[in-house]
Amino acid sequence: MRRVPVALLRPGMKVGRALYSSREELLLNAGTILTARNIERLKTLKIPALYVDDGFLGDVAVDDVITGEIRIRAIAQVRELMQEQDAPSMGVGRAILKVRQITETVENIIDQLLANRSLVVNLVDIRAIDDYTFGHCVNVCVLSLLTGITLGYNREKLLRLGMGAILHDIGKAAVPGEILNKAGRLTEEEFIIIKQHPEQGYRTVLKMPGISPASAQVVYQHHERYNGSGYPLGLKEREVHEFAYICGVADVFDALTADRVYRKACPVHEAYEMVAGSGNHLFDFRVVKAFLENIAAYPVGTWVRLSTGEIGLVTENRRGYPLYPRVRVFFDGSGSPVEPFELSLGEHREVAIDGVVEEGVVFSDIISLVDSRKKINFP
Ligand SMILES: [Fe+2]
Repeated sequence: MRRVPVALLRPGMKVGRALYSSREELLLNAGTILTARNIERLKTLKIPALYVDDGFLGDVAVDDVITGEIRIRAIAQVRELMQEQDAPSMGVGRAILKVRQITETVENIIDQLLANRSLVVNLVDIRAIDDYTFGHCVNVCVLSLLTGITLGYNREKLLRLGMGAILHDIGKAAVPGEILNKAGRLTEEEFIIIKQHPEQGYRTVLKMPGISPASAQVVYQHHERYNGSGYPLGLKEREVHEFAYICGVADVFDALTADRVYRKACPVHEAYEMVAGSGNHLFDFRVVKAFLENIAAYPVGTWVRLSTGEIGLVTENRRGYPLYPRVRVFFDGSGSPVEPFELSLGEHREVAIDGVVEEGVVFSDIISLVDSRKKINFP
């Protein structure tokens, strides 16, 4: 299974991973053979990519750190809470119910993460560009909890961290959609409005029954930075709650690796490098280190060029070896297709990854290239 940008999808490709909307509707089931109409629909819905099973990695499964079921439920709950919180119908009783549901979901996420401790994050979550915020909240929750587990937090601490992280952007419900999803540059006034969301969110969660003070601080402080350059208070170093640093790193990483209205997603290895360089500058060093232990710098399905010149697809990542995945080689050093073979970079330290090859930039139609055994000509 590998992630293919929608622009490169072709009729006849097989869907590798089910795709849902933020309203829990199934858009495409795993195993569906794509038609031209399916592909058009994805474009209309502004879905940036899809996981497909093709001849390259049809035999390789990519496990998410939590089940699709719980992820979809969590996204729908966050969407409901954000869309209803200011509505007159949201009485205290309903607020209690919503918070209870989300708490249960976060507890389930914690159970699954604790049961799957050997997995690293290999999947880039796919969401419609307009639904960005809801999927983002869930992803930030998952990434924050993974970091908390690596730091040795107990369940109680994990629940407080996870609740703060899943609610961290709840203040964005008060920001008009046209500012949140604006394609162009924000004006100074618009930026001032966006910057109010931590405080706005903090005020909202203080009114919610059953939210701990530590969770509320995550909402308030997730844009504070180690060197004091953040907002709203400009806190620095030890003044910032550790949970807020955790949520802040997860927030930056997830925002970088997602397609946004105003820019395309940044490749995971570049986001990995950026986060790796932020210790004791933007975030607490210990937190950055713990976060990165859970991330595969080259997720399964990434086309990489090796130091030998060979080109292949990443098939496996092992915890503790973020820069040394297993690679299935398809092209030799001169760009000619070869009988595929696998190389574990963890066992071949003389070979390194030289760079990522972006499908669509270097080879517009990789399948026909391999089928016709044509050579790749690099620009
Ligand atoms: Fe935020």
